[in-house]
Amino acid sequence: MREAAQRLASAGVENAPRDARLLLAHALGIEPVDVILRETDSIDIGALTDFEQAVQRRLRGEPVSRIRGWREFYGRRFTVTSDVLDPRPETELLVEQGLNRLPRGGRVLDLGTGSGCILLSVLAESQDAAGTGLDISRPALAVARRNAEALGVSSRVTFIEAGWSGVYGGPFDLVMSNPPYIPEADIAGLAMDVRGYDPHLALTPGGDGLDPHRAILKGMPGWLKPGGCIGFEFGIEQAAAVTMMMRQAGLLDIKIYHDLAGIARAAFGRRAA
Ligand SMILES: C[S@@+](CC[C@H](N)C(=O)[O-])C[C@H]1O[C@@H](n2cnc3c(N)ncnc32)[C@H](O)[C@@H]1O
Repeated sequence: MREAAQRLASAGVENAPRDARLLLAHALGIEPVDVILRETDSIDIGALTDFEQAVQRRLRGEPVSRIRGWREFYGRRFTVTSDVLDPRPETELLVEQGLNRLPRGGRVLDLGTGSGCILLSVLAESQDAAGTGLDISRPALAVARRNAEALGVSSRVTFIEAGWSGVYGGPFDLVMSNPPYIPEADIAGLAMDVRGYDPHLALTPGGDGLDPHRAILKGMPGWLKPGGCIGFEFGIEQAAAVTMMMRQAGLLDIKIYHDLAGIARAAFGRRAA
């Protein structure tokens, strides 16, 4: 594990010791916290080969979550494949703030659901809520369905294969979206473990990256309940543009939230009652 950490660090992998421990735990089929406890155990050749293969994949830039096939998000395990965006910790802001705004027995809509991480986390936390996840990608929706089953919330969720204007089944009390928002011009400069592994469709809508926010706000009167709340994630330096659009769409009580790195990442607003 130490040798792997050194190789990963030399290849420029950030947090190489953590990744080496996660990959060894994966190869051994144990929890990462147990790796240190088992430091003096012998390792069989099969696990050693699996570990080496996993390290090789990480050295080529593949993210740990894709090698393991899952990622922890808001305290739960989500299956992650090449068809979905690897959920990011900063997106937990939407879940946290969405839950604060969800009335009892509320109905939730997640636009661009991907792995389903936002919607399914909210439903897992609120046993009386029901929701809809929309995505234009059929393979992504298949992953979201698997995650809904694994989390035991399938009976309270509906998935729709459609674009931003294809919403039906509302009105909703809470709408959240982490749409693709990276400006087209920034794609080439992204790190390899983003550009090479997350689906292009999940990363950028082209142009300035904000067309999804515009389209969603345009459709909003058709499916957000009066008095209901809507929350968006956005990228670095997009907060002013997104909150301006939200204001122009008539939303009230607009609040911006920052991630752990201090970057403005999400905003919520309320439709007038
Ligand atoms: C940034 S990913 C977010 C996935 C997930 N909600 C998350 O936070 O990890 C954006 C998602 O929007 C979907 N998407 C892209 N263009 C779309 C469109 N025109 N209509 C609906 N969904 C779209 C992508 O397939 C992708 O799953």
